[in-house]
Amino acid sequence: MFEHVDAYPGDPILTLNEEFLHDPRPEKINLSIGVYLNEAGQLPLMGAVRKAEQSILAQPVKRTYLPMEGMLDYRNAVRCLLFGEDHQAVSEKRIATMQTLGGSGALKIGADFLAAYFPGAQVWVSDPTWDNHHAIFAGAGFVVNSYPYYDPGIQHVNFEAMQTALEAIPVGNIVLLHACCHNPTGADLNTQQWRDLATIIQSRSLLPFFDIAYQGFGQGIKEDAFAIRYFASLGIPMLVAGSFSKNFSLYGERCGALHVLCNDEGQANNVLGQLKAVVRRNYSSPPTHGARIIATVLGSSELRDEWHSELEAMRARIQSMREGLYASLQGRMPAGKADFLRKQDGMFSFTGMTAEQVRRLREEFAVYLVGSGRICLAALTQESIVPVTEAMVQAMN
Ligand code: LMR
Repeated sequence: MFEHVDAYPGDPILTLNEEFLHDPRPEKINLSIGVYLNEAGQLPLMGAVRKAEQSILAQPVKRTYLPMEGMLDYRNAVRCLLFGEDHQAVSEKRIATMQTLGGSGALKIGADFLAAYFPGAQVWVSDPTWDNHHAIFAGAGFVVNSYPYYDPGIQHVNFEAMQTALEAIPVGNIVLLHACCHNPTGADLNTQQWRDLATIIQSRSLLPFFDIAYQGFGQGIKEDAFAIRYFASLGIPMLVAGSFSKNFSLYGERCGALHVLCNDEGQANNVLGQLKAVVRRNYSSPPTHGARIIATVLGSSELRDEWHSELEAMRARIQSMREGLYASLQGRMPAGKADFLRKQDGMFSFTGMTAEQVRRLREEFAVYLVGSGRICLAALTQESIVPVTEAMVQAMN
């Protein structure tokens, strides 16, 4: 019966992570998957999360089904976190918000919804982008194209090439944008470039689909949401997929959200209804625990402040790892080669290493990077900077 089923070739990130876990070498270092580790190399359980969990356990509740769209308190809280409490789009109830199974779930629900209501549209993603963007949109039936983004020569965004490409995209197509901490390159647009992009998106009537999986890891909660808030202030209809895996360190709880910004409350209600239908056909309704934790943290000014300062400390640690690796690498590499670390931002950077060099890094030195050359700086520690430097220098020779 199943003879025709092919072997799964694996996922460039998740399968590599499994390989890492099975690697018996004690000196192994995992800088592949996008997971934040603390200075001890451990996954943190945030203090605000622990306290919220304790208060939830102190008042046990029955576990009925959540509605298809998820928990109301969670949806309201995460919408305000993203758009800002006093954003006009929030007060005018123009945003349809769904609780989703992580950021991937938000992209999938959004993609299925778009496939039903924008069947003629094609999807455009940055070159490069997170591999799963291709898989999710192609899986929903879309033709997925790329627009130029990263230029290895300048170790940053080639904004001119990006602009020219977007100006030529057919009207009504869908453009996937990374709101901050671009995955995999760490190369982001500045505020003026976002403004320029908004003009193109409006004039071509393109539909932006933002992915924001790292809010707070780039410049700060508010700053990282700049593009989304700015586009929303112009009334540009859009979708946003958000994740709380990283900024709440709640990976396994699968907490995400999909927001669809509409022109008015009536449209938002209709869109919400169709998103509910998509969820019903996929998994009926989302789980409770992670959403309750996040709603509890964001709903208490004390816990929210605590979470915020913990997040700030995480961001500062990532930044210091970036600086530390730069200081360690720059004298050991040809001039300018380590500069990517200073030009890029957030959890990831694009090292410029080839697939062969990444393979050598893994096989000879037990240092894991994603095959594209992406490094996760958020998993680096003071202790691992020196062995990682040595391994990178050797593997690039
Ligand atoms: C990553 O890019 O490493 C993370 O977002 C984890 C994942 O699901 O790929």
